Amino acid sequence: MRTKITLILLAFVGSLNAQNPLLIPGTISGTEFDLTLQNGTYQFWDGVNTTTMGVNGPILGPTLIMDKGDEVDITVNNQLSDTTTIHWHGMHVSAENDGGPHTVILPGETWNPTFEVMDKAGTYWYHPHLHMKTNLHVSMGIAGFIIVRDDEEAALDLPRTYGVDDFPLAVQTKDFDENNQIVGSSNSDDVVMVNATIDANLDVPAQVVRFRLLNGTSQRVLNFGLSGNAPFYQIGSDGGLLSNAIELTRLELPPGARAEILIDFSNMQGQNMQLMSYASEFPNGIYGATYPGTMTFMELIGYNPNPINGADFNLMQFTVVAPNGNPVTTIPDDLVTVTPIPEASADTIRTLEFTPEAMGPNQLNGLFLINGVSYDMDVINITVPLDNIEIWSISNQTAIAHPFHIHDVQFFVLDRNGVAPPLSEQGRKDDILVKPQETVRFITQFSDFANDPVPYMYHCHMLVHEDGGMMGQFEVVDNTIGIDENAGNSMDVSLYPNPVSGMQATLGFPGKNTYLLSYEIYNTSGGLVASKTIDKKINALDIDLKGMNQGIYFLKVYTKDAVYFKKLIRK
Ligand code: C2O
Ligand code: CU
Ligand code: CU
Repeated sequence: MRTKITLILLAFVGSLNAQNPLLIPGTISGTEFDLTLQNGTYQFWDGVNTTTMGVNGPILGPTLIMDKGDEVDITVNNQLSDTTTIHWHGMHVSAENDGGPHTVILPGETWNPTFEVMDKAGTYWYHPHLHMKTNLHVSMGIAGFIIVRDDEEAALDLPRTYGVDDFPLAVQTKDFDENNQIVGSSNSDDVVMVNATIDANLDVPAQVVRFRLLNGTSQRVLNFGLSGNAPFYQIGSDGGLLSNAIELTRLELPPGARAEILIDFSNMQGQNMQLMSYASEFPNGIYGATYPGTMTFMELIGYNPNPINGADFNLMQFTVVAPNGNPVTTIPDDLVTVTPIPEASADTIRTLEFTPEAMGPNQLNGLFLINGVSYDMDVINITVPLDNIEIWSISNQTAIAHPFHIHDVQFFVLDRNGVAPPLSEQGRKDDILVKPQETVRFITQFSDFANDPVPYMYHCHMLVHEDGGMMGQFEVVDNTIGIDENAGNSMDVSLYPNPVSGMQATLGFPGKNTYLLSYEIYNTSGGLVASKTIDKKINALDIDLKGMNQGIYFLKVYTKDAVYFKKLIRK
């Protein structure tokens, strides 16, 4: 405990030397990515062992470098003693490849998503997403970067040599107990680290350097800035590059969000600079401010006192060294063409409202609801037609700001309480802070993926809130395939056992007899492997699986009213 407090104070006071070289995660590039989730031991402080979880190592995970247009093949081998999932945050992939809470990887098992990289060049990340354990698994150390490259980005004069003039910076805050072990779910996150390095220093060349910032904290909003209020330039948001570099002295990033920035260290050789969070500038009502609720009497257990709440504190230090071989020396002005979706093109407007489970002074310690309900794995909250353009209007009727994140898509923010967002938020985003009493509207289109056996998620990216049920599910449905159908909510149909190792599985319609016309079973390449006409009202039916090899299949169920899709795993 004592060691810990001393170190926090050092970080907090700020001007003292940072001493630990920044950990720079290794990389895997190409189209095949082998990831092993493992338990480990890591020394956040010299000589002090802390139990951790990591990917291909004891902490964090390798940076995956992917090219847009490539077909990637990922294996995720779970060597943890716990079930988990791995989600590709920000990437546009089908729901079954997305690694949400339904796509569990049991201990000892391997998950093998394959998909085409459709995203623009940008900074994405991966992390566990098991319902009610996301915070634990992320806090224990599982998180990694994904860098997507494309031709548009390659044509710009930007720093892009990983570990030389292009660095990922995952900022996290954690709580450690008196035995220096990570406390999984805590509001007392007083230890600041970047890439798992406390008091980190990075030697940077005296030229323009690119940083890929990730707010990888469980709950804390960060207000990035440099010591002395030196300017920096934002070039990218969650889903890729902006249209122009923006000169800034502050950049607010909520949990889960990313930004790419450039800092010009030319002529600074021999000097130091601090990357900071200017949290003293936050109004109350943001996790990170002096008080987490809008009213100072609203307590959050464990939040106060914490020296970094409402204070300006150092994240890490840069020490400027000699420039390297082929330096970028100017900040480009124009970047890429960003084409926001016009508001008038929206097909559907949806409203989502955040409320506390219980109003009143103790609300911060309770659960938060979206449209009055908590997450239920068996309920699809929203069904979106394929290719629909939608405006989601999110209003926050709670006393604390929540970062709203949606899977599958990148969106464009239309406005905050009717006012256009700052330039910083005018690029592609998947994560946006909604402050108390604020309504944020965004527009997006749900393209390419539909009728998956599992839904996508939307949720608060404060992981404690997400685990507490501040999450919902949506499915994207293509009504144009098959017979004249309404694609039904796949949760209305059950399939048991699944995975199945025997010769049959049972298809059921929980709670109601249903007129079943027929079913078809397809393999993953779309070939029909079985079909049967039934034509009667039933509650359950045994499906014959003879002759089907091990693997993944899709069951398409035609009833009088709807068509359902179910994934079937044959072991
Ligand atoms: Cu970064 Cu649904 O998560
Ligand atoms: Cu996500
Ligand atoms: Cu929240």
